[in-house]
Amino acid sequence: MSSGFERDKSEFARGGRAVVVLPDQGGASRDPDARLAETAGLAEAIGLIVTDKIAVRLRSPKAATLIGQGQIEQIAAAVRMEEADLVIFDAALTPVQQRNLETGLSAKVIDRTGLILEIFGERAATAEGRLQVELAHLDYQAGRLVRSWTHLERQRGGFGFLGGPGETQIEADRRLIRDRMARLRRELEQVSRTRGLHRERRQRAPWPVIALVGYTNAGKSTLFNRLTGAHVMAEDLLFATLDPTLRQISLPGIDKAILSDTVGFVSDLPTQLVAAFKATLEEVVSADLLVHVRDIAHPDTEAQRADVEKVLSELGVAETTPRFEAWNKLDLLEGDARADVILEAAKRDDVIAISALSGEGVDLMLTIVASRLTEAHRRYTITLETGDGAGAAWLHQHGEVIEHWVDGEAAVYEVRLSERDWARFGERAV
Ligand code: GTP
Repeated sequence: MSSGFERDKSEFARGGRAVVVLPDQGGASRDPDARLAETAGLAEAIGLIVTDKIAVRLRSPKAATLIGQGQIEQIAAAVRMEEADLVIFDAALTPVQQRNLETGLSAKVIDRTGLILEIFGERAATAEGRLQVELAHLDYQAGRLVRSWTHLERQRGGFGFLGGPGETQIEADRRLIRDRMARLRRELEQVSRTRGLHRERRQRAPWPVIALVGYTNAGKSTLFNRLTGAHVMAEDLLFATLDPTLRQISLPGIDKAILSDTVGFVSDLPTQLVAAFKATLEEVVSADLLVHVRDIAHPDTEAQRADVEKVLSELGVAETTPRFEAWNKLDLLEGDARADVILEAAKRDDVIAISALSGEGVDLMLTIVASRLTEAHRRYTITLETGDGAGAAWLHQHGEVIEHWVDGEAAVYEVRLSERDWARFGERAV
């Protein structure tokens, strides 16, 4: 369809030249250089060539342009010199600011949300992922459209109808967006119903699910590949993986577990996307154990940790879900920094320092993960009446039946259950 609201790929063509700007409010918990490098990495993830990275000090944000006139001129000079066609602002811009900056810089301007949506759009591999990203994108555009109508009115010229021609056009545009969004939602429902069926089938198997989560580029895919022997795209590209990948692994004392590699989180993840990805991240939300992979050598590792925790809580992951931190990229640290990390990790029983690249610490991590899972799935002895077929079926479905024998009128089950299922079984009032 051509609503005119599909992403205009030409504006973000691979090989396009972009200047990255960080309006820096100072006093933040992040290192401006690392933040600029991250945003440049995001831009490179969709094939843009970053020609310049500029941090500008933001003293008092301007309603019309966010940054000051002098700063606009400074960036405009860089745009001209580098022959850039795109300026990426590592901030949230209002539609008005975006428009004014485009005029002032004579270049296309996008903000962090726009950039992240672009990346997700390019990376979504499954039908569901694509639908979710398009929905989030339209939602974002709809917001911009409503507020920038005067601009469009001027651009499109008038017909002299009541309420103004621009408004008529915008009403039509809005309706198109709304219709498309409604259709997408219906398609999504259909797709997630199908996936729900698959998941249910899998969930019946009593295998624990371990989900790798972490900030983008922390090394989840590298760890996933090491643990499964799979070849998930591991690249020095942000968001190399978008849709969750599931593989079966075995751990010390546990025959089968499911390991899931999920999308990397990033700070200021657009809210539309968090909502959209809730469904795709069901594996994370319902995991038996979360392994939070952290790039411990990154200067912003603490801020990244906080970002990941924030997204997890936005996704509705219960605080009671057992978690475990894998402090990755240990090989990048030397001397005191390395010793400090190893010492700190040794003090905590929910942390292990590893290098997914060299394999250091990974075996120990697996042993700990396995014991965490076994703790999470305790062994219970449950006695049912021999005729209680439904109860027996439930136990087979939700737990791992280790042994089972009949004792007179009673059927006794030795079974491993998660705490949650144990509670649920209790509610069944047996
Ligand atoms: P997203 O897909 O963006 O979420 O990234 P990810 O967390 O899956 O990271 P990925 O495994 O793609 O790794 C990102 C980069 O870090 C790659 O260049 C890896 O080679 C590198 N890397 C991962 N683990 C280690 C490690 O232990 N040490 C070092 N030195 N580099 C690592």
